[in-house]
Amino acid sequence: MSNIHITYFIFTFLLQSSLRVLAIHPLYHFCSSTSGNFTSNTIYEKNLNALLGALERDISPLGFSRAVSRMHPSWFFGIALCRGDVKSSKCNACVRDASIELRKSCPYNKGATIWYDNCLLKYLDQSFFGKIDTKNKIYLLNVANVSHDPNVFNQNVKTLLSKLALESAKTKEFFSFGKMKLDAFTNLYGSTQCTQDLTNKACKFCLDEAIRELPNCCYGKRGARVMGGSCNVRYELYPFVNS
Ligand SMILES: *[C@@H]1O[C@H](CO)[C@@H](O)[C@H](O)[C@H]1NC(C)=O
Ligand SMILES: *[C@@H]1O[C@H](CO)[C@@H](O)[C@H](O)[C@H]1NC(C)=O
Repeated sequence: MSNIHITYFIFTFLLQSSLRVLAIHPLYHFCSSTSGNFTSNTIYEKNLNALLGALERDISPLGFSRAVSRMHPSWFFGIALCRGDVKSSKCNACVRDASIELRKSCPYNKGATIWYDNCLLKYLDQSFFGKIDTKNKIYLLNVANVSHDPNVFNQNVKTLLSKLALESAKTKEFFSFGKMKLDAFTNLYGSTQCTQDLTNKACKFCLDEAIRELPNCCYGKRGARVMGGSCNVRYELYPFVNS
């Protein structure tokens, strides 16, 4: 299992500075070693650099790019996805940082995935477009417990995120966010997003799986994210999406 738990001690008074830090530093990365490594100064390295350049250059107004680069005998396939509310200049900057960081962190790997607060970047030496990535996944959570009844709270999380998942799968940007009133003082905020190479059906399936995992990783926590290579879900007790 390459899944990993990352815990953030984010308390309300630290929130602003924590968010700034998260925005510029990678949340996590995986270097894939299943297809082995290549060596430096080869056609592989040249090809990978070409792919990463194309991913950064070709980001659509919907915050997504997909590219294939072939320089015989090497093939690379990649995607870049920005958080649905992140606008173009920030999106491009995030993908650029991500590609520099991946070249540093996984210099000779034929596959790698990296997550930032604002974007995801992934490449592999074989096509993965349209396939749900079940291998690369991270869980981020706020260790603080909710003051509400956790059973009721988790049910509310599920209700909100399932509704958003259904919406996401129907939009062309595959991204939704929304809120639910928990009591007179508290709103629950959520977002769901898929990579745009999936079908609507695969998007819905991927999100439902991620929502199903929340009680295992993050039962009764004030905030959590399940971030995969094909989709991500998040909830918090504060508004985290720029709308
Ligand atoms: C592949 O590269 C990684 C560094 O990215 C290194 O840790 C690993 O040992 C290498 N694997 C092989 C088989 O050389
Ligand atoms: C949260 O609740 C669990 C049990 O429900 C407890 O074990 C844990 O220590 C609590 N964590 C915090 C940070 O209060």
